[in-house]
Amino acid sequence: MCYKNTGNGERIIMSEHVKVLFSEEEVDRVIEEQARKISKDYEGRQVHLVCVLKGGVFFMCELAKRITVPVTMDFMALSSYGDGTTSSGYITMKKELDESIQGRDVLIVEDIVDSGRTLKYLVEELSRRNPASLRLCTLLDKPDRRVVDIKADYTCFEIPDVFVVGYGLDYAQKYRNLPYIGIVEMEETKVE
Ligand code: IMP
Ligand code: MG
Repeated sequence: MCYKNTGNGERIIMSEHVKVLFSEEEVDRVIEEQARKISKDYEGRQVHLVCVLKGGVFFMCELAKRITVPVTMDFMALSSYGDGTTSSGYITMKKELDESIQGRDVLIVEDIVDSGRTLKYLVEELSRRNPASLRLCTLLDKPDRRVVDIKADYTCFEIPDVFVVGYGLDYAQKYRNLPYIGIVEMEETKVE
């Protein structure tokens, strides 16, 4: 919560409010659908999930629980966002994978594809390491915001250009733990 002075003696209280976009049940149902597709596509193989921290972690756990072929996992952290809602456009690796991906069937698991820069960077980086295959899976996709040409192989939800939180996604590091996906709204209340 914060205050804003209007200049005419009034003060406005600004408070954040999260509006539900996709309920927990809906998200779980769609993840189940994608997990079924993945299990079918990787039949007879082992899938190596590469989670992009921190946002992808909730999604990866829920997805992995529902995949029926053998699964291994690794984690990587990148940064492209500051603490706000606008992209810096500059990507750095903050945590490397623990294991080699050479010869493995790798599936990148992301929370959201926005400008697409993060995924593009990751695909270029991981392709150089000679995986047997490399595919992309994302919980959310904002196609209207794309600035580079990239498309995930598995997408749970396509959304318009709105800032979303929950299910791993944050606003200034908050709300990752919400079990649903929501939109942050600012509410204004006048006080005398
Ligand atoms: P990119 O612009 O596709 O490179 O996305 C970079 C990262 O920005 C994503 O992995 C998210 O962590 C973050 N991001 C993009 N849009 C949102 C949003 O609506 N809510 C929370 N994080 C977001
Ligand atoms: Mg992310």
